[in-house]
Amino acid sequence: MCGILGYTGNRQAAPILLDGLAKLEYRGYDSAGLAVADGEEVRIEKAKGRLSVLSERIEGGKTLAGTCGIGHTRWATHGEPSDTNAHPLWSDDKAVIAIHNGIIENYRELKEELTGKGYSFYSQTDTEVAVKLIDLYYKEDNGNPLSALTRAMRRIRGSYCFVILFRDHPDEVWGVRKDNPLIAGQGKGESFLTSDVSAILQDTRQVYYLDNMQIARLRGGEIRLFDQDGNPVTKELSEVTWDAQAAEKGGFDHFMMKEIHEQAKAVRDTIHSALREDGTVDLSSMKLTDEALRKVEQIYIIACGSAYHAGVVGQYVIEDLAKVPVRVELASEFRYRTLPLKGEGGLAIVISQSGETADTLAAMRLAREHGLRTLAIVNVVGSSIAREADNVFYTLAGPEIAVATTKAYSAQLAACYLLAIQLAKARGLLLDESGLLAELQALPRKIDDILDEKERIRQVAERFAQANDAFFLGRNIDYAVAMEGSLKMKEISYLHSEACAAGEMKHGPISLVEKGMLVVGILTQEALYKKTASNMLEVKSRGAWLMQVTHRGNDLLKEDADFTFYIPPTDPHFAASLAVIPLQLLGYYLAVARGVDVDKPRNLAKSVTVE
Ligand code: AGP
Repeated sequence: MCGILGYTGNRQAAPILLDGLAKLEYRGYDSAGLAVADGEEVRIEKAKGRLSVLSERIEGGKTLAGTCGIGHTRWATHGEPSDTNAHPLWSDDKAVIAIHNGIIENYRELKEELTGKGYSFYSQTDTEVAVKLIDLYYKEDNGNPLSALTRAMRRIRGSYCFVILFRDHPDEVWGVRKDNPLIAGQGKGESFLTSDVSAILQDTRQVYYLDNMQIARLRGGEIRLFDQDGNPVTKELSEVTWDAQAAEKGGFDHFMMKEIHEQAKAVRDTIHSALREDGTVDLSSMKLTDEALRKVEQIYIIACGSAYHAGVVGQYVIEDLAKVPVRVELASEFRYRTLPLKGEGGLAIVISQSGETADTLAAMRLAREHGLRTLAIVNVVGSSIAREADNVFYTLAGPEIAVATTKAYSAQLAACYLLAIQLAKARGLLLDESGLLAELQALPRKIDDILDEKERIRQVAERFAQANDAFFLGRNIDYAVAMEGSLKMKEISYLHSEACAAGEMKHGPISLVEKGMLVVGILTQEALYKKTASNMLEVKSRGAWLMQVTHRGNDLLKEDADFTFYIPPTDPHFAASLAVIPLQLLGYYLAVARGVDVDKPRNLAKSVTVE
């Protein structure tokens, strides 16, 4: 997710763009750039790092004259953060200059086609491919922006919005959207394009929310909208009632809830990043060949916190599908172990949202010293862990602002599933993966279906707002989900909880169960359902208040559970992606009910870069 902004009107564009981008930095902050048209000359300035680096370089915009321009703050998905990869990107003669928010899934195919037509590329971004595709059609259509954009839209696959300057149309800003938000703001003698209204609220609250596959042309205060065939369309102006801060959170009260709702997209984008057009898994961009996967004899999954919990899910799925032994290790423990590691045939999968967690980075270095191949699953392009790993599988969750991870964790699960499938395929254990991949691609919609029932979870949370203790129980993958549910609860609501393997309760922890204590059971693994159900009855008989997360048709606890949350059916390997959603919501609503800072819980940091 990136921040994008365009302006045209009667004021100097650069200061307006910098002010607006400052309100969009939460959407991406690894680099920033502006392009401003002053007559037919277009000046472009861009810089790696925070927006302040760029602003200082252009003296707050004073050195970029012109009343028409575009600006961007980047969250890298393709191509490391750098001056070169920062937006805007342009065609070789600078006839077309653009900024982009989104992901182009078929950029490799398009890049090959454009290369064959004589285009060359100076950046590692998917955006530059789109810019040159627009440029190709712009030149073929005698400099007609609308025609060029409609043709390009028909070729580009993925989710995107572009804001474009055409050098030969110096007072115009053009915008195109598909799946990613794009808003046109109407001012007095001026107009704006943005990915997020918070960037323009100080100038206007009158906006058009572009529909999918629509195009906007801004010229001074005039906004014209077109459909994907270039036909003019009319829309009603909307009035923005949010305040700026609410707008940054997309209307949600907290970034955490906004990110819970972004999970479907995070999972969808992550899955699509590793699929070919024919729907098969393609890990070649991670330089992970089938030959390399066949050589793997032992896997270590190394991580901290929620990333560790994602790794525990990965362990069960990889072992079941690919029959490779997996050890999941807490990075802070692993890094001090004197254990002999299996170098030859060993694969260390290092999971980290930030890519900067000190313990995880140190553990990965230890694995490399022992000769293991290292594969990083990270969410930040160019992060320390990404740079030092042999292979990198980028999750495409976008910036995660809330300290408590949700969408990045879900994207990590998706990455683990894809790895497990490709490992099994490469080792000849999976002849037809189409069924699994179909189930995988159905997850995003099912995640959204679960969110439709979030009010039921709020009621449970409000009932336990004053509780002091809780348990989360499960077996196999459900135990991994229990770990994550417990962490969500304790780290943001400060309600003490613990996860326990359901079969382990009778070996001690069950002594803690008191009357009315909340015990959450996760029962998605059909093969173990009866056993876990009996564990739940054991705690029920000791007075627990029983919440169960399970599939419809699992009725053993129907009379005994005090609250049942059904999740949609899915392949049992992927059940964690659905079962975790009500538990994220439970932690969130408990924190809200207890009046604590949901997005910035006490004592915690988003990235633990110290030991
Ligand atoms: C999860 O909600 C916590 N914020 C924390 O456990 C986190 O998962 C852990 O610190 C690992 O961070 P990383 O994924 O950036 O390495």
